[in-house]
Amino acid sequence: MSIKIRKCRPEYWEEILGLYQKVAAIPGGLARTSAEISGDYVKDFQRKAKETGLSLIALSGMDIVAEIHAHKLQPQVFSHVLSELTIAVHPDFQGKGVGKALFSAFLEEVATSRPDILRVELISRESNSKAIRFYESLGFKQEGRFEQRIDRGDGTFEADIPMAWINPNYSKR
Ligand SMILES: CC(C)(COP(=O)(O)OP(=O)(O)OC[C@H]1O[C@@H](n2cnc3c(N)ncnc32)[C@H](O)[C@@H]1OP(=O)(O)O)[C@@H](O)C(=O)NCCC(=O)NCCS
Repeated sequence: MSIKIRKCRPEYWEEILGLYQKVAAIPGGLARTSAEISGDYVKDFQRKAKETGLSLIALSGMDIVAEIHAHKLQPQVFSHVLSELTIAVHPDFQGKGVGKALFSAFLEEVATSRPDILRVELISRESNSKAIRFYESLGFKQEGRFEQRIDRGDGTFEADIPMAWINPNYSKR
């Protein structure tokens, strides 16, 4: 499959909204449900990624089939960290290497162009073992467990697993 990876631009935001709603419609992946994916949600994470972080998209032809983003948290003590990372691959394109290509490009961009970033972090629900194994294959390490952090919506809770990747090319300014 021919996939092109590009930096995200504001003209893509509308299409990214549709992508996230499709991905969120399948339970067990994204933390948000489709009803919680709004234009404001997409604008907010895109604006933050543009200001302090990074957002990349994967294109199949003219269509956006995946997106990844992360940004810096507000307090200065976190200015070496890209956080609140989310990746979403269109359901029809999952399991075909798109996520791997997109996430690898994201980490490559941080390693080559973002010496200000020491740490990239994310959190994945424990039952999303496909995603956790995937992140480990990219070099992320599990850092513990946030017990009972995810509400399954059926009266039970599950752990959220914090993970981090360390930039080998970080340079303190
Ligand atoms: C998780 C996700 C980003 C992975 O992207 P993807 O394009 O589907 O994954 P890829 O095809 O690039 O495969 C990545 C790895 O996962 C493995 N994988 C893919 N599909 C799998 C499946 N159904 N079951 C188990 N492992 C699977 C692959 O073997 C691959 O590992 P490898 O490199 O060791 O071979 C994507 O499936 C997705 O968007 N899921 C829904 C949203 C989500 O869960 N986001 C993450 C929230 S923390």
